[in-house]
Order: sequence, then C-alpha cells, then structure tokens
Amino acid sequence: MKLDVVLGLQWGDEGKGKIVDVLAGNYPIVARFQGGPNAGHSLHFEGKSFVLRSIPSGIFRKDAINVIGNGVVLDPITFRKECENIEATGVPVKERIAVSKKAHLILPTHRLLDAANEAAMGKGKIGSTLKGIGPTYTDKVSRNGLRVGDILASDFQERYGKLKARHVRTLSQMQFDCNPDAEEAEFFAAVDYLRQFRLIDCEYFVNKELDDKPILAEGAQGSMLDIDYGSYPFVTSSSTACAGACIGLGVAPSRIGHVYGIFKAYCTRVGSGPFPTELFDETGEKLRKIGNEFGAVTGRPRRCGWLDLVALKYAVMISGVTDLIMMKSDCLDSFPVIKVCTSYKVNGQETSQVPFDTYASIEPVYTEFKGWNADLTGCRSESELPEAFRNYIAFMEDYLGVPIKIISLGPDRDATIMR
Ligand code: IMO
Ligand code: MG
Repeated sequence: MKLDVVLGLQWGDEGKGKIVDVLAGNYPIVARFQGGPNAGHSLHFEGKSFVLRSIPSGIFRKDAINVIGNGVVLDPITFRKECENIEATGVPVKERIAVSKKAHLILPTHRLLDAANEAAMGKGKIGSTLKGIGPTYTDKVSRNGLRVGDILASDFQERYGKLKARHVRTLSQMQFDCNPDAEEAEFFAAVDYLRQFRLIDCEYFVNKELDDKPILAEGAQGSMLDIDYGSYPFVTSSSTACAGACIGLGVAPSRIGHVYGIFKAYCTRVGSGPFPTELFDETGEKLRKIGNEFGAVTGRPRRCGWLDLVALKYAVMISGVTDLIMMKSDCLDSFPVIKVCTSYKVNGQETSQVPFDTYASIEPVYTEFKGWNADLTGCRSESELPEAFRNYIAFMEDYLGVPIKIISLGPDRDATIMR
C-alpha cells in the first residue's frame, strides 16, 4: 500500500489539522514526519475544538495509530501537557500513539537558545515560535542531539547534563539572562511520562504496516517555510516538502501515493520574511478578521494578503502535488473583487518564477475576479456552488495543472465538499 502525504503549500496555517482529521477516517495510521510543537493544528468536531502541537491529527479516530516519526523534534513537556489534555476527554492516547526512538528531544535549554538567538538578531529576527525548533535541529545536524530512544539508557541523566552544559556555555557567551534549571524537574517528570508510550523503530514499523495498510503522513508548517525551498533564512529548520516524509519516516520515494497539497484561498504569514502579496490596508484587515487569522500557537496576528499562485505553483512542483485542497474560500464571500497573483515583476521584468533573492523588489501582478457575493458556508455539494466561484476554481486548476479535489467551507469536519 501507499504512503499518502498531506502538505501545507504556503507559509503554514493552511488548515492541515482539519483535513487530516477528515481524511484520517480512511487511514489506520497517521504519521507526523517533521517539525515539532511550532505546529498548531486545529480540529473542530461535535462542538469541540483542539489544537494539536506534536500529536498527529488522527488521534480522535478510533483504531488509528498515530506515529511521531524520526524527523520530528519532540518536547516532552509540551507533549505531556497535550496528551493529558486529550486523555482527560476519555481518549486512550497511550494506546493510540507510537513515538520513533530516533526523534530528537527538545530540552528546556533549546528553548532558551531559541530566545537568545532571536534576541541577538534584533530587527533581523526570524519571528520564531520560540519552541526550540532551530537549536534542536542544529544539535541533530552537528551530532550533539539527544533522541527519544536515549531516555531508555541508564546514563540518560548524564548525557542530558553534558548537552545542557554545552547550552549553558553558549547562553553565557551570548550574555543571555535566564535560569537554565527552571524547567529541569518538569522535563524529567515528562520524560518519565514519555517512557510509558510505545517507543518504536519507526522505519521498520512503517514499512511493515505499509505491506497491507495505507498510511497518511501529516506535514507541518508549509512549503514556503522549507529549509531549502522557503524564503531562507526566514524559514523553519526542517524539510516541509514531500521528500521530508521519506526522510522523516524512513520510507522510500517509490512508496508515496497521493500528495495532497493544502492552500488557503488567500495567504497568511506569521513571523518575519518576504510576502509579496501582503496587504497593509483595510482589505488585509478584513481578511484577518473574517478568517480569524491569529496564531494557534503564539496568538500573534497573522499577516494577510491575496493568493499567490506563483508561490503556489512552485510548491506544487517541489512536492509533486497530485490533489489540491482549497481552504477558507468562504472567507472571501463578501469581497466584491477577488485578486490572485499570477506573475511577479522583479526589477521591472515579469516572471512566473520565485526568484533566488526573495528580498528583491517583487511586485505582484494580479488577475481579478468578480466576487460571488453569496454565502458558501452552507454548501455541501458541487451543484450548490455559485457559477462565479466555479469559474474561479477552474482558473486555478488550469494555472496550477492539478485538480482541486476537496473544498473546505468552514472549520467543522462536515463543512467539506469532496469532488
Ligand atoms: P503549522 O504546522 C505558521 C514560522 C514561524 C517563523 C518561522 C520559524 O501550524 O502550519 P520556528 O519556530 O519553526 O523556528 O519558526 O516559521 N512557523 C509557522 N508559521 N504555521 C506553523 O506551523 C509554523 N511553524 C513555524 O512563525 O516565522
Ligand atoms: Mg500554525
């Protein structure tokens, strides 16, 4: 069977949680393969709402196993809080979650380093979620990191002490005022909690299960935050594209099936970095208000702008997207004119490519659509969709060369049209 992948195609916050929750009904296994608690995946069903950070969005589906893959960075403290929160609603999380022994651990001092790095960058800061993501991946790549499997070793405490000492030296060199011991007791208690979970050899587990079961891989962040293909350096520290699912779970590229690419009908970005279609006027304000564009993790207001098809087509190419999923077009219901960026002007030259220097002066060139001026939120089938809206969809499919297979018209599980 195949590994199908769900990816965000923009700057994160596309609605991956909702879609994975909807699709999870068809998959006995859901797996996260990169990122960590910088993600905030929101789920709404039966009048309840949850924001998931490290736990895959299949957790509320009975009989689904939720894998935290080796490409993920896991903060035991956040993970424990998240699990206990869900456990309190009667979900048997320990039965439904399996964690790769090769996933790297976020220490409390990784979070302090994240804050120290950002403070040192001043105005040029990344706008990180400050969850310790960058410093943990840095330790992974520089071969200093601690992994989930290490918590089973008798000398774990000692290894922790060694890594912490390195961090403390750096923090003091950076003259960052903090208490590195503050969360240590909570960290070790959370590590004890983590030991109660099924710790797996993810690559063996996933490949064996794929023999007779389909698996859904759940991406975090978005293509434009990818460490290689995003607007570097204003990116996250992992591979958010489809290839990341292979590395982050130990699966060969030939096993990939559908690649579901999720995008919102407009764009948002939190944190710093280039955003060619950003709106600084009341239209942007209106998008933020109607779309409730405030960070699920940090509460920060998200920057808003028109849909950027140049960036979207780039993301489709990098990941080989086979099925598009469009979110939140209902948020455009009341706009008389809807714009989509179909090319860039870079130094006066028109192009349909994302330039190397994303800080070059990019001027978006727009195609305008007359708004459909109708309430889409109640639509549950294709035939109920207004013609102006269907034309708009057809235009996008034509531009991107990939069919839009799912249209989401509200946060709830049910507000979804399958095409
Ligand atoms: P989900 O999975 C939106 C952004 C941060 C910052 C940059 C680097 O909910 O879509 P990091 O903490 O990773 O070092 O931050 O990436 N960022 C996200 N933006 N949604 C996310 O996740 C994000 N995860 C990281 O705002 O600009
Ligand atoms: Mg988010």
